[in-house]
Amino acid sequence: MRHLIAFLSLMFCAPLLFAADLTGIWSQATKQPDGHTDRMVLVLQQSGSQLTGKIEHPWGNLNIQQGSVDGNHFSITARTDDGYTIACDGTLQGDQLHVTMREPNHEPREIVADRSKSDPFLVVNVLASPAIHDLPPNGLAKTPPMGWNSWNLFAGRIDDKTVREMADALVTSGMRDAGYVYLNIDDTWEGDRDASGVIHSNNKFPDMKALADYVHSKGLKFGIYSSPGPYTCAGYEGSYAHEAQDAKTYAAWGVDYLKYVWCSAARLYPDSAMRAVYQEMGDALRATNRPIVYSLCQYGRANVWEWGALVGGNLWRTTGDINDTYKRMMEIVDSQSAIAKYAGPGHWNDPDMLEIGNGGMTTDEYRTHMSLWAIFAAPLLAGNDVRTMSPDTRSILLNQEVIAVDQDLMGVQGHRADRAGDIEYYARPLNNGDMALVVVNRADASASLKIPWSEMHIAEGTKVRDLWKHEDLTAKADQSFTIPAHGSLMFRMRAPK
Ligand code: GLA
Repeated sequence: MRHLIAFLSLMFCAPLLFAADLTGIWSQATKQPDGHTDRMVLVLQQSGSQLTGKIEHPWGNLNIQQGSVDGNHFSITARTDDGYTIACDGTLQGDQLHVTMREPNHEPREIVADRSKSDPFLVVNVLASPAIHDLPPNGLAKTPPMGWNSWNLFAGRIDDKTVREMADALVTSGMRDAGYVYLNIDDTWEGDRDASGVIHSNNKFPDMKALADYVHSKGLKFGIYSSPGPYTCAGYEGSYAHEAQDAKTYAAWGVDYLKYVWCSAARLYPDSAMRAVYQEMGDALRATNRPIVYSLCQYGRANVWEWGALVGGNLWRTTGDINDTYKRMMEIVDSQSAIAKYAGPGHWNDPDMLEIGNGGMTTDEYRTHMSLWAIFAAPLLAGNDVRTMSPDTRSILLNQEVIAVDQDLMGVQGHRADRAGDIEYYARPLNNGDMALVVVNRADASASLKIPWSEMHIAEGTKVRDLWKHEDLTAKADQSFTIPAHGSLMFRMRAPK
């Protein structure tokens, strides 16, 4: 009898033990110290021990590739269309999911998600985009914009105090006087909208107008960041459905530069809508009558170089994000030459911000970074700690002769003109008839070489300025140069008189 009872209770309890049903919408919302609410959503369908569905970040969705349930425990691998992958696992406890999230380049983190009736990220009726028209040039950025941006070093840790310190340092370091005049706050400044829909900064930035005034008082210009989607890439409030209102707010604060990043707009629109969506903010900025440099950031999708200027863009990102590695920096370099013809005064290809001084590359690699950005007529937005620059970092960012190449008034973007094994030659014609040349050694060991001047139509005896050594020399066929691993030489060849 005792055995029968045990058998029957197992029979009836077993389904209960395995009855966890994770099907549903699970929403996590955590208020951060800056007042912003961090959100993540899991939309799950359970079928037996299989889980399908998606994980939603504010910036986009990751589809579940593999999902399984075992009792109350589950594990999931999910990825975006372009391969960004999250792994997570956790347990159902009562009516909450306790999840450990593992994302690339992040420490694992614990979240608790509650059952939710609706998906907080769902936008049901996406507003129609305007009809396409061409905007006239706004007259800004006649040479590539120069300045400093908070993202590469501080990411979400930027605040009012740090921006003021950076403004002071841009002046005392000589960066401002060398041309780095835009001080741009990237993502994570955004707070909530009020009842009238007006955007406010979060509590890291108590008074944006006062901060802009401070930055202006230092002889600098003030930049800010937003997204055409409902959320920025870091999950803060975007400008969706508030474009004109936000442009007015920025103008009232004294904003001189807007970086506008696609991010969560990808939930709402296909890439084919990008031009219309960017045009909407282009029109809104123009309507403010304040000169505001317009920086498009949609990772070079939809051939932005073909229409970026026509939506009022002064620069457009040509690739995904840079990081502080030689490998990534050179991956970006490799796609720039093919689109060189689209850059020109007022509208520039943007291979992303500088990592110089952030510690992930050698001094030689950072020199290559600066040399190539100058050859490409790229915007020079430093991303390092300007308060504490090493002598090497200063000598790179403040090299006036290299900056002069970047800022050349003719505004022709250079390109890779030749290569011989690991040695590459990049050339750029300059306004006064001079030519800039960068020779890069991509090998992991130093290289000795003779520069084939004649093949580049540089006559023997031409005056050549070495822009890193700050020395004059004369082009000679038998002259040998040594380039360190991943390093470069940069020359300015004088036009024949
Ligand atoms: C995007 C941009 C980056 C940076 C982040 C901030 O990823 O490409 O440059 O602005 O957004 O979230």
